Amino acid sequence: MPKSPEELRSYRWFGPDNMRGFSHRSRMKQCGYRREDFTGKPVIAIVNTWSELNPCHAHLRERAEAVKRGVWQSGGFPVEIPAFSISETYAKPSPMLYRNMLAMEVEEALRSLPIDGAVLMGGCDKTTPGLLMGAISMDLPAIFLPAGPMLRGNWNGKPLGSGTDLWKYWTERCAGTITGEEWVEIEDGIARSPGFCMTMGTAATMTALAEALGFTLPGASSIPAADSNHVRMAMQCGERAVKMVWDDWKPSAFLTMRSFENAVAVDMAIGGSTNAFIHLIAMAGRCGLKLDMRVFDDLATIVPVLADIRPSGRFLMEDFYYAGGLRALMAEMTEFLHLDELTVNGCTIGANVAGAKVINPEVIRPRENPLVESGGTAVLYGSLCPDGAVIKTSAATPKLLQHTGPAVVFRDYNDMDARIHSDDLQVTPDSVLILQNAGPLGGPGMPEWGMLPIPRKLLKDGVRDMVRISDARMSGTAYGTCVLHVSPESFIGGPLALVRDGDLVRLDVDGRRLDLLIADDELARRNAAWVKPEPKFARGYMSLYADRVTQAHQGCDFDFLDGKKPTPEPEIH
Ligand code: FES
Repeated sequence: MPKSPEELRSYRWFGPDNMRGFSHRSRMKQCGYRREDFTGKPVIAIVNTWSELNPCHAHLRERAEAVKRGVWQSGGFPVEIPAFSISETYAKPSPMLYRNMLAMEVEEALRSLPIDGAVLMGGCDKTTPGLLMGAISMDLPAIFLPAGPMLRGNWNGKPLGSGTDLWKYWTERCAGTITGEEWVEIEDGIARSPGFCMTMGTAATMTALAEALGFTLPGASSIPAADSNHVRMAMQCGERAVKMVWDDWKPSAFLTMRSFENAVAVDMAIGGSTNAFIHLIAMAGRCGLKLDMRVFDDLATIVPVLADIRPSGRFLMEDFYYAGGLRALMAEMTEFLHLDELTVNGCTIGANVAGAKVINPEVIRPRENPLVESGGTAVLYGSLCPDGAVIKTSAATPKLLQHTGPAVVFRDYNDMDARIHSDDLQVTPDSVLILQNAGPLGGPGMPEWGMLPIPRKLLKDGVRDMVRISDARMSGTAYGTCVLHVSPESFIGGPLALVRDGDLVRLDVDGRRLDLLIADDELARRNAAWVKPEPKFARGYMSLYADRVTQAHQGCDFDFLDGKKPTPEPEIH
C-alpha cells in the first residue's frame, strides 16, 4: 500500500496547523514556494558532494538540476543539500580519515531535516561508501547516482589511465627514460573531463559495487560523466526516488548478506580495488551484517576476472561502457550471482541484467576466455598478519607470489621517503620492503602508501616490482606485488611492528600465508620490549577517530556506528 501524504515524514514538519508548522511553512515560502508545492509531497534531498576542490565531481551541480527535473515531474519536492566532498587528490593526510565523517554527516542530515527520501551523488573514492553508509544507517528511501568516470586520457596518441599511468611514467621519469617536457605533456593529457578516475580504481570499483548491491538504477555506474546519458540517468534517479518514498522502499528492504556476496563476486570479476574489502565490510556492518574477509577469498578462488581494465588489464572505463558496461559483465557471470536479490528499482538483479550483451569481448571477456581464471585478490593469514592481509594478485608479478626474502624496514612514511632512493640502502631485488605505522591509527587513516616506490638504484638495473608489505592501503589504480591492510596494524603493536632489517619474510599466496620467519622466543622478546607510541591527536575529529576507529579487517568504521542500534527520530517541537 503506498503511503498517504499525511504519512510522509516531512508532513510532521509541514503539515500540522500549529506554531511550528507555521514556522516551517513560512520559511519554505521565504524561498518562493507555495504551500502546495512541498506539503504532502515527497521531499527528496539531493545530497550533493560537488566541490571546486573535487574535480571528479565538477559536473554534479548541473546533474543536481537534472535530478530536480525528475523529482518535480514525478510530483515530489527536491531540495539540494551539500555534503563534505572528500577529494581523493586533495584531502590530507588521508581521505580515508573522513569517510566516516561523511557517513555521519549524511545520516544526521537525513535524520534532522524534513526529508522523505534521497538521491546521493558522488563517486570519488570515499564518497561512495561514505554516502551509502550514512543512508543505510538512516534507512530512508535512497538511490545512488554515481558521478561517472572521466573520458580516456591522451598523450602522443596513446590512451592514459588515471593513477596507473601516473605511477608508470613517474617510475620512467625516475629511471631517466622520459624528459621533463614529456612529463608536462602527460600532465596536460591525463585528466581531460569531469568524472572520477577512469581506471578500475577505488572509484570505479565502488560505484560498480553500489550497482551490484542494488543501490543504483541498472547500468548507472558505467556511464561516463561527460555523456548525455548521464544527464538522463540523473533525471531518472529523481523520478525513482519519489516512487520509492511512496512505496517506502528503503535500503533495509533490499540489502541482505546475499547482496553483499553479489558485490564481492562482482569485485572479483572486475579486478576491483582492494579498498573494496574495507568499504564493503563497513557497509555490511551498518546493516548489522558481519562480512568476513574469507568470503572475498572464497569467491576470488572461483570467480574469473572478466574486465580487461587497467591496472589489471589493458582498457579504460570509457571502453568498458562502450563494451556493454556493468550490466553486460554481470550477465556474463550470472552463475556467481544471487539473481533474486532486489534493488532500488524494485526489480531483481537478474531482471536488471537480463538481455544485456557484451559488445566488445576484448574489454569484457567471455567466461571461457577470462583475463585471470580466478584469484584476482587473495586474503592472507600468518604470523605477520594474524587478523589478515590482502594482495591484489591480478596486478602482481606472478613469480613473486611465492617469495622469501630479507626485510628492509621503514619505520614510517617519512623514514621511507628519506631513505628509499639512497645509494646506501642495503637492498637487492629479492628484498622485501616493509612499511610500518601506515595503518588506520598509524597513518593515520591508512593512506595509500602501500605501493612503496622501487629504490632508484634497482630501477636503473631494470627492476620494476618487488614484494612490498604494509598496513597501509593502495590506490586501486596502482599495481605491483604489494601486501596491504596487515592487521592488526603496527601502531597498536601488531607483529608488523616487530620486523627488523634482515629478518626473513615468506609470502606464500598459494598457501594464503604471510609469515615472519623468526623464532617464537625472539618474537616474544621483541613484543615485550615494544613501546606503545603516543596518540597522534589530542583534540577534535581526529581524536574521536583515534579513539573509536576499528581495524582494517573490521572495516575501519567507528565502533559506535556499527550494527542496527536504532537512533530515535527527532521530536518536532
Ligand atoms: Fe577522484 Fe580518483 S581522484 S576518483
